[in-house]
Amino acid sequence: MIDVVVQAVTRPVAGVRRFVLARVDGQPLPLAAPGDHVDVETPCGIVRPYSLCGDPARQDVCEIAVLREAQGRGGSRAMHDALAKGRRLRISEPRSLFLLHSGASFIRLIAGGIGATPLVAMAHHLARAKQPFDFHYCARDRESLVFLPELERLVPRGALHVHLSVGEDARRFAPDADPPPEGCSVYCCGPSSLMEAVRVAYAGLCPVHTESFKPQVPDDAMAFEVVLARSRRTVPVKADESILVALWRSGIERPLSCETGICGTCRTPWCGGEPEHRDNLLSAEEREREMLICVSRCRSKTLVLDI
Ligand code: FES
Repeated sequence: MIDVVVQAVTRPVAGVRRFVLARVDGQPLPLAAPGDHVDVETPCGIVRPYSLCGDPARQDVCEIAVLREAQGRGGSRAMHDALAKGRRLRISEPRSLFLLHSGASFIRLIAGGIGATPLVAMAHHLARAKQPFDFHYCARDRESLVFLPELERLVPRGALHVHLSVGEDARRFAPDADPPPEGCSVYCCGPSSLMEAVRVAYAGLCPVHTESFKPQVPDDAMAFEVVLARSRRTVPVKADESILVALWRSGIERPLSCETGICGTCRTPWCGGEPEHRDNLLSAEEREREMLICVSRCRSKTLVLDI
């Protein structure tokens, strides 16, 4: 982890704070790729992934934008309430789960709400590289367009398309009414309904890359049971819940933080059954004996955890 200090905080729109972070020791930050995120130890101790939304070529500072989620577990609220200019915190090195691939002759960026963050970093990169791209920016209303002034500077003239859900100029994005040009690659980040609509509309037409920090339970997920070898308990896991949630529901408290398979807090040893690893952290060797139970599941009817 890297010790950083908050150099500036802005409030571009209601409910969103943008933080400019620099290393405490004044050294350059590791070079980030467009689309990268960092894991942030929030002031309440929960680790949360946030996409970098500034210019990825800069190493003096990095920027994240945080939407305050009233119903969340407190990470975003702590970021809003406790992080003022001068406050220190720790972040990971940049991590790449949403890479801008080379080879496409045209790039389409499709953003929904605060999901625009990694795509704004990509827009910085594409504008600098003078690579042709367009940007579809979907939001609830004009007041929610966090990055509009920046995108108006970065996106080529006539290639920034704003789609609003409510208001006088409401016009929702309809991906099937706007097919991608030949040779295009699409990058989409936002609500799962938007990403699914884009995937369906552009299937067979061009590659569609998406990113979500919410744990995805696969459509064909099955219920199974977890046997706890040491405490000799058996816990049923429903098709639409994680092992971690099932354990907590049964009164078994296990450490948790990100709940997205990236921080490793819920690392748990297993000793039977057939785990289905769905994290982005463990090595093949580690997976032989451990699993991240906030996202990983089981292919067999029973999974045995060594706890
Ligand atoms: S809680 Fe972070 S990996 Fe499971």
